Amino acid sequence: MSRSPDPHWWHYQTLTSTNDQAKLLAAGDWLKNGSVIIADEQTHGRGQQNTAWLSKAGESLTCSFVYFPNFLKASDQFYLNMIVTLGIVEALKAHFKSYGDSFAIKWPNDILLKEKKLGGILIENLLEGAYLQQAVVGIGINLNQTLMGKELPGAISLRQLTGRHHNPLSLVEILKDAIDNQYTMLRDGNKSKIYNGYLNNLYLFHRWHQFKAANGKTFQGCISGINNYGNLLIVDKANQTRAFGLKEIQF
Ligand code: BTN
Repeated sequence: MSRSPDPHWWHYQTLTSTNDQAKLLAAGDWLKNGSVIIADEQTHGRGQQNTAWLSKAGESLTCSFVYFPNFLKASDQFYLNMIVTLGIVEALKAHFKSYGDSFAIKWPNDILLKEKKLGGILIENLLEGAYLQQAVVGIGINLNQTLMGKELPGAISLRQLTGRHHNPLSLVEILKDAIDNQYTMLRDGNKSKIYNGYLNNLYLFHRWHQFKAANGKTFQGCISGINNYGNLLIVDKANQTRAFGLKEIQF
């Protein structure tokens, strides 16, 4: 039996990482499906590919949602990345309506605002046989930073968009509703709707662009989709479709 997402909140002032705390709480059987762990500040936040995720108190939303998607095959686990990024982007578009077109997903996991990085996700799964047992979905969103243009030219915050301060607790509620809805859609088997929603919000989907492959060679290509393993599919000028994993392609 799979449980529906249920609001269950754990709010801390300081944690090493909300993902680590989520795993500890889950191991102690403290969590319900859809529980939220949120910290005002992380001392050892983690990003994709063993990077550090740095943020000062009050500057970012740093949280983890925990799900127990025992209906989901391990081979379909990229659907979790899709529902989370799609939920975040759809929620941001609906909330910041006048800037709607400025938000996008950059494959596989980045949230873009005006083609700059607004946030990212780090999903850590536990498997049981061929199925998922537990998914810890870590989310980091830049809210109130102002210096990013100088320090990190590729990053942006919501404050830089709107000129005002943003409260992490208000935003997390908006994201939670949207991601829970996507989760329910996945549980109900609406995979094609999720896939199409992901592609409709995907940065550079169906647009020609110069990519750089892992061998250092650049080529003109057009993103045409994602395969079952979550690899990015790019059609080149010779009309060949090529599949790329995470470290195999640069935009
Ligand atoms: C990325 O590299 O883009 C992913 C960043 C994910 C950061 C979030 S912040 C909350 C959660 N806890 C962590 O330690 N990491 C994730």
